[in-house]
Amino acid sequence: MADVVKVGGNDELKARVTTSKSRSKSRSEDDGWVPEALDVPAWLEVSAALRNERERVVGRLEDVCRITLLSIRPDYQRLGLGSALMHHICEDIDRHGRYGNVLSSPAGVRLYSKFRFEVVGRVETPYGPISSMLRRKVQRDVSVPKKHY
Ligand SMILES: CC(C)(COP(=O)(O)OP(=O)(O)OC[C@H]1O[C@@H](n2cnc3c(N)ncnc32)[C@H](O)[C@@H]1OP(=O)(O)O)[C@@H](O)C(=O)NCCC(=O)NCCS
Repeated sequence: MADVVKVGGNDELKARVTTSKSRSKSRSEDDGWVPEALDVPAWLEVSAALRNERERVVGRLEDVCRITLLSIRPDYQRLGLGSALMHHICEDIDRHGRYGNVLSSPAGVRLYSKFRFEVVGRVETPYGPISSMLRRKVQRDVSVPKKHY
């Protein structure tokens, strides 16, 4: 059973997130690195929850390939490009005998599942659910070949 963590489920936080979206400014108008549209307290809360979830899943594992973001331009989606990238990434993961880990939006879950990533947890955020996914290591064949007498 996957673990579920809820973050900022209150209406006040949701309202703040919605409102802040509608007053976005162009980047050149920004004073610094933090855009005005970003609800910083909400974002920090979500970031901390995601970090904790990642730590829970891969904190004690060695050799982990972590996918931070996979994104295909909208007009090129559903043409197999995401799968092609994942194929390449997973070949590399297996070649090096690594675990795979990703915190996925709902749009990515089907894609990652096709490549043996399993949902092992979920973080509920005001922006929607994030699935925590782990791809287990391929067992390397360490068996000694049988001797024929
Ligand atoms: C998720 C994403 C990377 C998939 O890329 P893609 O090139 O469209 O993927 P493919 O064409 O290879 O399709 C792979 C599978 O994902 C599914 N899929 C693609 N887009 C999807 C979406 N928006 N919602 C649900 N499933 C989706 C497809 O149905 C397909 O499964 P199927 O072959 O069994 O039908 C792409 O939709 C994207 O960039 N989304 C926005 C960013 C994002 O959410 N990234 C994932 C989290 S890090």
